[in-house]
Formats: sequence, C-alpha cells, structure tokens
Amino acid sequence: MLAFKISGYLFLFCLLFLFSTRWVSCSVNYLSHYCPNTTTYSPNSTYRSNLNQLFLVLSSNATRDNGFYSYEVGRGPPDRIEGLFLCRGDVNTDVYEECVRNATTKILQRCPKEKEVVIWYDECMLRYSNISIFSRSEQNIRLILTNTQNITDQPDRIRTVLAATLNELATEAANDLPGKKFATKQANFTAFQTLYTLAQCTPDLSSGQCNACLQDCISNFPACCDLNQGARVNFGSCNIRYEMYHFYNSTLAPAPTPPNRPPPTTNEGNGGMSRQVIIAIAFPTVVSLVICFIGCFLLTRRAKQRRYDAVEEENDEGNDISTIESLQYDLNTVGLATNNFSPDNKIGEGGFGSVYKVKKYNSKYVSIR
Ligand SMILES: *[C@@H]1O[C@H](CO)[C@@H](O)[C@H](O)[C@H]1NC(C)=O
Ligand SMILES: *[C@@H]1O[C@H](CO)[C@@H](O)[C@H](O)[C@H]1NC(C)=O
Ligand SMILES: *[C@@H]1O[C@H](CO)[C@@H](O)[C@H](O)[C@H]1NC(C)=O
Ligand SMILES: *[C@@H]1O[C@H](CO)[C@@H](O)[C@H](O)[C@H]1NC(C)=O
Ligand SMILES: *[C@@H]1O[C@H](CO)[C@@H](O)[C@H](O)[C@H]1NC(C)=O
Ligand SMILES: *[C@@H]1O[C@H](CO)[C@@H](O)[C@H](O)[C@H]1NC(C)=O
Ligand SMILES: *[C@@H]1O[C@H](CO)[C@@H](O)[C@H](O)[C@H]1NC(C)=O
Ligand SMILES: *[C@@H]1O[C@H](CO)[C@@H](O)[C@H](O)[C@H]1NC(C)=O
Repeated sequence: MLAFKISGYLFLFCLLFLFSTRWVSCSVNYLSHYCPNTTTYSPNSTYRSNLNQLFLVLSSNATRDNGFYSYEVGRGPPDRIEGLFLCRGDVNTDVYEECVRNATTKILQRCPKEKEVVIWYDECMLRYSNISIFSRSEQNIRLILTNTQNITDQPDRIRTVLAATLNELATEAANDLPGKKFATKQANFTAFQTLYTLAQCTPDLSSGQCNACLQDCISNFPACCDLNQGARVNFGSCNIRYEMYHFYNSTLAPAPTPPNRPPPTTNEGNGGMSRQVIIAIAFPTVVSLVICFIGCFLLTRRAKQRRYDAVEEENDEGNDISTIESLQYDLNTVGLATNNFSPDNKIGEGGFGSVYKVKKYNSKYVSIR
C-alpha cells in the first residue's frame, strides 16, 4: 500500500518534471524590429550609457514577476529612457532570460543609434524610447505576419468562428487583472480542424486600454489575413495570433495552480521495516524510475529532431531573413498605415504550416520562418 503510494508520487513527480522542463534547448526566434532613424543619439552620449544601464537592469530582472519588467534611466528629458520587455505568457522563465539577453544584444547591432526601438521575438518583445511609454497604449508601431497557407473549407463558418473567438479572447486577456494580461483560447472549426488563439498586452495597460489595443489588432485581420491559416498582429503594446495548430503551451498558459496534495503519510505505525516492505517499496520505485528515464530519453530525442528541422528551415529561408532586416524602414511607414493592406500579396508556396510573410504598407513582404 505504502509502496504504491510512494512510487505513485515518484511517478507523478517524474511526469510533472517531464512536462515542466523545456527539452528543446531554448533558442529564441527573432522576428523583426522597428527603429526609425529620425531620432538618434551619438555613440559617446549619455543616452548610450543610460541604455547600457537599462539593458543591465532589464536582463538581470528577466526572470522576475510575470515576464514583464519596466525601468526608467536618466533624469532629464534629453537622456531619459523608458524601457520594458514583455515575454509571452506561456514560455518558461529560462526562456525569458535568454530572450531578453538576446534582444539587448541584437538591438544594438540592428539599431546602434536610434533612440526609439521595438524588437520582436516569438518569445518576447523589448522596447525603449526617449518619450514616455509606460502605461500608454502604442498602436501605431505594428508588425503583421501571415501564414502563407490558405483555409479552403467553409470560409464563412471560419470567419464567424474566428471573429467570435478573437473577441472573447480579447476580453479575457484584458480582464486578466493582476496577472499577465494574457489569454489563449481554442475553438472547433470543423470536426477535424481546431483554431488556436493567443493574445497578450503589456500588463501596465488598464483593462480598457488592453481591450482597445487588441480590438485594433483584430480589426486588421479582415484586411490583411482573411482566410490565412494563421496570422499575427504585433503592436508596441499588445499582440494577437491565431493558427490552425497548437502553437502555445497549454500546460503553462494559465499559471498552473500548484496541486494541493496532502503530505504523504509516512510512518504507518512502528519503526523498522521488514524485508518484504523494503522490496515492495523498491520494486515499483525502480520500475517508475526506469519508465521516467525512457520517457526523458525519448523526449530529448524528439526535441533534438525538431530543433534540427527548425534550423534547416531557417537556413532555407536565409535570404528572406536578410530581406526583412533590410526592410526595417518600411516598418516606419507601417506605423502610419491604417488598414491599407493589399489583400492579394503573396509569396511562393510555403513549406509546412509555419511559413510567414510580412505584410508591409507598401506591399513588400518576406517569408521569415
Ligand atoms: C512548450 O513546452 C514544451 C516542453 O516544455 C516545449 O518543447 C515547447 O517548445 C514549448 N512550446 C512553446 C511554443 O513554447
Ligand atoms: C540569440 O539567438 C540566436 C538564435 O537562437 C543565437 O544564434 C545567438 O547566439 C543568440 N545570441 C545571444 C547573445 O544570446
Ligand atoms: C535614414 O534612413 C534612410 C533610409 O535608409 C536614409 O536614406 C537616411 O539617410 C537616413 N537618415 C539618417 C539621418 O541617417
Ligand atoms: C526624443 O528625442 C528626439 C530626438 O532627439 C527629440 O526631438 C525629442 O524632443 C525627444 N523627446 C523627449 C520627450 O525627450
Ligand atoms: C568617444 O570617447 C572616447 C574616449 O572617451 C574618445 O576617444 C572618442 O573620440 C569619442 N568619440 C566621439 C565620436 O566623440
Ligand atoms: C533589477 O536589477 C538590478 C540590477 O541588477 C537590481 O539591482 C535590482 O534589485 C533588480 N530589481 C529587482 C526588483 O529585483
Ligand atoms: C491563398 O489565397 C490567395 C487569394 O485568394 C491566392 O492568391 C493564393 O494563391 C492562395 N495561396 C495558397 C498557398 O493557396
Ligand atoms: C470541440 O470538439 C470536441 C470533440 O469533437 C469537444 O470535445 C470539445 O468540447 C469541442 N470544443 C469546443 C470549444 O467546442
């Protein structure tokens, strides 16, 4: 009895461990950045040294709280910087740290003299500016990515389900009150297809601001991404994404409430265990440990396989990645764009599910993944 209890706990622990550890070595996916060269600083300026301090503080606080941290450096207007990062609500804290560190390094390569900057990764966003950005909703800086695959079945039903789901999603994220302002939601398109959606605001926004920001994101979808199998709209303060595959981690998505298990009752009576009892404990324990190790081994192998695929894809699309970088100034005009996207932009057929093109105001776009 006791033996089964103990090995049961071990097994549970093992499963929890398996599901809570990221076996994929955490490499982070850079998406794009925005830094208009209209406001710049010089290399030796106080702004630059303040920036170094900002990065230090942001990086060293990366694992704190909800994956969101904001900090302000400098006193006077010319050299004052407000900066923040926001990590996706479903990624693990070790990824926060890597993403923020990666972003602070990369941004200085991409935007070495610009004062106002946003850099987006799959897993996080980093932003700073010489103007006030805290608790303000930024909806002019926008990055729109669409999956190149189309939805072909039942377009009307899909539009309806998508609109309804995204609306509920926005409300949920906005009302995620003390939390991350993060929500995920899934819905059935057909018996075989499921819709997965994710939304997040920077938690410094009020519910009202967050909702308005997300609604603004959603309003882009009909014009930019009608019937694409997936799309994302990223603003400076919020983002929303949908796909036809399970792209987020449901296990981590809503902060898991720790299971409130009663402490195991050891000591079932008198001290000193008989040999049978020891064997009875040891055997199931060993068995569950072996199962655990096999599980770990298989998972690690799978993870390696997946990572390899991803790297290959990235190499295939190498040219496109550099294209997106050379297009950084177009994002500036995207900032001024309203829903003025040409719906019939397209690039070549993508690979499998996750090929994106970036829609730009002037109808330039690239595949990035
Ligand atoms: C979800 O977590 C699993 C394991 O923890 C990891 O392999 C996977 O990459 C994560 N997915 C995302 C989208 O973060
Ligand atoms: C950032 O991430 C990329 C890709 O995962 C990696 O090649 C690079 O070394 C990372 N840089 C830093 C500073 O972590
Ligand atoms: C800003 O970028 C544009 C486009 O690359 C370039 O033509 C212009 O000279 C740049 N301006 C400054 C002040 O660097
Ligand atoms: C931000 O920097 C730009 C360019 O240096 C400057 O024109 C603007 O006044 C600054 N804004 C604030 C609030 O300091
Ligand atoms: C930056 O500072 C270094 C050392 O303080 C100095 O040698 C260099 O000339 C300065 N560069 C500029 C562009 O002011
Ligand atoms: C953030 O990082 C700084 C610099 O490392 C550190 O001094 C500070 O205590 C951190 N803030 C919090 C709230 O932990
Ligand atoms: C997706 O739909 C657009 C517009 O209807 C069409 O031009 C494009 O060829 C389609 N793409 C794929 C991969 O089927
Ligand atoms: C989707 O369909 C499955 C079975 O077809 C059902 O169990 C599930 O509750 C449905 N989910 C929603 C959100 O309707």
